Amino acid sequence: MSELAVGIAGIGGRGGSFTAPIESHPAARVHAICDTDTDALATTADTLNVDHAYPAYESMLEETDLDVVVVATPMPFHVPQSIAALERDVHVISEVPAGVSIEECRDLVAAATASAATYAMAENYVYHRPNQLVTALVAEGFFGEVYYAEAEYIHELKRLNERTRWRRTWQTGVDGNTYPTHSLGPVLEWFGDDRIERVTCAGSGHHYQDPRDDTYEQQDTTVLLGETEHDRLVKLRLDMLSERPHAANNYQLQGSAGAYESARAADDRNTVWFEAFEAADSSGEYSWRDIEEFTEYLPEPWQNPPKAVWEAGHGGSDFLMMTDYLDAIAAGDPPPIGIHEAMDMTLPGLVSQMSIADGAAWHAVPDSREWG
Ligand SMILES: NC(=O)c1ccc[n+]([C@@H]2O[C@H](COP(=O)([O-])OP(=O)(O)OC[C@H]3O[C@@H](n4cnc5c(N)ncnc54)[C@H](O)[C@@H]3O)[C@@H](O)[C@H]2O)c1
Repeated sequence: MSELAVGIAGIGGRGGSFTAPIESHPAARVHAICDTDTDALATTADTLNVDHAYPAYESMLEETDLDVVVVATPMPFHVPQSIAALERDVHVISEVPAGVSIEECRDLVAAATASAATYAMAENYVYHRPNQLVTALVAEGFFGEVYYAEAEYIHELKRLNERTRWRRTWQTGVDGNTYPTHSLGPVLEWFGDDRIERVTCAGSGHHYQDPRDDTYEQQDTTVLLGETEHDRLVKLRLDMLSERPHAANNYQLQGSAGAYESARAADDRNTVWFEAFEAADSSGEYSWRDIEEFTEYLPEPWQNPPKAVWEAGHGGSDFLMMTDYLDAIAAGDPPPIGIHEAMDMTLPGLVSQMSIADGAAWHAVPDSREWG
């Protein structure tokens, strides 16, 4: 089989996280790179020994013969760059979220439907080790019927806003949930064949100013409540402004026979309770178990991962996400997180921005499968 020629846009930032899994994949190689920052581009081209380096994305697409493009540029470029590749029948794996407006998401779905290539979203939190273990334990039936989940992305990034100014516009310059996919990705995996069909969103007010004394348009904390087609409930907290340590990996899951509480602080444990394993003690109280007692259920890639996985970003999830994606494309299979899964993770956040502007009224979330 010939190797997949991969191009990476945004190599000077997030795109750099994917060179190790691509280069170590037996069926892929980094063929071209792109970044508008010509210094970062030249340095990376040198390090990677890549001949095809482009400051302009369109030139990379036109002048090289790519099978796959990784779109790892700032949020407003995700849709236009993805569409440009899909129109040339080049497979796309785009960073999160998929898009910044419902209208451009419609255009993206149309382009993905018309293309001979596939669209995928690079939602890496689905591949975090504890999240993958919970996915396996849900599949084993330990939770019974799952009906409620919470997830939080609490990641103070006011200073990062100043270094990567697009964040000040697209993440903290808009009210409502502007970054939902790390929270929704794992939750929707656990819920199985389900999607959020309506949302409401409220905020905690404005308590911080940027260095120009402008108040952030986004409220410090926003809470999105979502109801699913199958009557499940989801609560998402997003906070990119409050002064406090991170808690960007926080999840809770409730089922009729089990519950999951992730570690909120760095030295906490991820814990589960399963009816099948524990009866109430003599005082009638249940107790948590460390999820590590159940590692025999971890999916194969997490059983004995090579050192390179641990060395990659986000606890190894960046590596396993890209490997899983390339395995699928090399085999001619649909990508693990395709266009409609990407929409299921992205659209509730975009609709929450309408809800919060509308006094927390409930708004319907479109189903991209129904877009003609
Ligand atoms: N999945 C995750 O865990 C994760 C983590 C960080 C960032 N992200 C996402 O990755 C994307 C990039 O974030 P970042 O932190 O790397 O931002 P960044 O600003 O640090 O880096 C973006 C890079 O893209 C380049 N760039 C900007 N416009 C470009 C264009 N039109 N064409 C080519 N290159 C261009 C910049 O010069 C820069 O090197 C964002 O969408 C963000 O949401 C995801």
